[in-house]
Amino acid sequence: MGHAHQIVIFGASGDLALHKLLPGLASLAEQRLPPGEVHIVGVARRPKSDASYREEIARTLPPELGPAFAALAPRVSYVAGDVSSPADLARLKGYLDQLPGASAAGRLFYLSLKADLFGPAVAGLAKAGLAPRGVDRSAYRRVVIEKPFGQDLASARELNRALHEHLEEEQIFRIDHYLGKETIQNLLGLRFHNAIFEPLWNRNHVELVQITVAEQLGMESGRGGYYDTAGAVRDMLQNHMLQILALVAMEPPSSLEAEDVRGHKVALLKSLRLPEPVRLVRARYTAGTVDGRPARAYLDEDGVSGTSSTESFVAVRAELDNWRWSGVPILLRHGKRLPRKFSEVQVQFRTPPLQLFNRPNGMTDADFKRAVRDGELCQIRPNVLTIGIQPREAIALSFGVKTPGQGMVMSPARLTFDYKEHFGKTTTPAYERLLLDALSGDATLFLRADEIEASWQFADAIRERWRSPTAPALLEYPAGSWGPIEAETLFEDCEGCWSVGR
Ligand code: BG6
Repeated sequence: MGHAHQIVIFGASGDLALHKLLPGLASLAEQRLPPGEVHIVGVARRPKSDASYREEIARTLPPELGPAFAALAPRVSYVAGDVSSPADLARLKGYLDQLPGASAAGRLFYLSLKADLFGPAVAGLAKAGLAPRGVDRSAYRRVVIEKPFGQDLASARELNRALHEHLEEEQIFRIDHYLGKETIQNLLGLRFHNAIFEPLWNRNHVELVQITVAEQLGMESGRGGYYDTAGAVRDMLQNHMLQILALVAMEPPSSLEAEDVRGHKVALLKSLRLPEPVRLVRARYTAGTVDGRPARAYLDEDGVSGTSSTESFVAVRAELDNWRWSGVPILLRHGKRLPRKFSEVQVQFRTPPLQLFNRPNGMTDADFKRAVRDGELCQIRPNVLTIGIQPREAIALSFGVKTPGQGMVMSPARLTFDYKEHFGKTTTPAYERLLLDALSGDATLFLRADEIEASWQFADAIRERWRSPTAPALLEYPAGSWGPIEAETLFEDCEGCWSVGR
């Protein structure tokens, strides 16, 4: 029997708590919560009894988690309190201290709060004696911080400083839920467990890398107010997309220890070179149709200012200033209200130096060579390794095969691995995995202070370019389209175009 764990969720009745954290904990409770007593304590301002909080959770859980939650419910309780009130935090401490096994219990504080409360909340926890500085494997005191972590580099630095005033870095778990996704974790597995990829994974063999995170969503669930202050760069590119890039492009770590992996990610993020303004495309959606349903223009969304200049789409052609990737275009694209939700990485390899196949009927050898050399004929398609992150979790390699029959005509073919087909079950939801890691003190999938700061440095530099008087204009695209046509220009000098996720 292990020691007890107390999981304290601030923002207990918010969307994240009810739709992600508590379902995650209920699902974990079925089989994978660490041994020992686990107590979940929801904290929010509104007065509520334990019973009504449990009912609220039971109502929002997916039905299949009903039985698991019924078993967990007696260990779920509610304490009304305001994180900025010392008296409320003292009361919370009194409550936690009298739970069974409290004297040796670990405590995980999950701050599912508005971003401006992260710093004050940690100061309050420290002053109340709830989360003193110190690293202890069993009676641990850890704090999980949600995104957004800062609004820019300066505010992220300030928040890191405020957290470090009270906590060791090892006590801080900054979450990026993309790192909990199975296919994102597999990026390291694919690259470093398989000897065939690594020798090709560099500027000599890779022509370009493209990463897309496309969403159909717009400003549902009252998100317009927040989103309008953030935009595509700060909401998605600075965090989820740069994390994907870091895992795709980082150097091999010598272990999977948190410090090793995160150190290599930081080095990669620091090598990002700011693109020229013409390599940056930003846009916002106008009215259109998504999935057969009419969609409002961004400017007409609730909570969005009529004079907003916030982007809902961003496409960037970046480069990495390092030995492995120098000169390889790194194309990143994200948008809201696109035709389909999908996230994907494509690694596009260089074509062979000589075209031998697909000679038109009757053309002489000499004419064929000349036509290929002069660019009149180019039918070699690059091999592309596609890593589907969601919704389809799959890896596919495209290559050419000879079409049966006369002549040497090559056709495109694909080798595909599909997680569901192979493992026969859906993968673990991201929050479940991350909660379990935080409970067991594994910070590999959480962001370190310097990692966040390196990402903000790049995101800030993009936004700085857009503030300049010569910056390219904010473009528009109809909701339900793949974004402005200008995003295609980022492929200049390269084969290929943006993926549509099929
Ligand atoms: C969040 C962003 O971090 O990620 C949202 O704030 C976005 O705007 C969401 O919709 C996407 O997450 P997922 O897991 O649905 O791809």
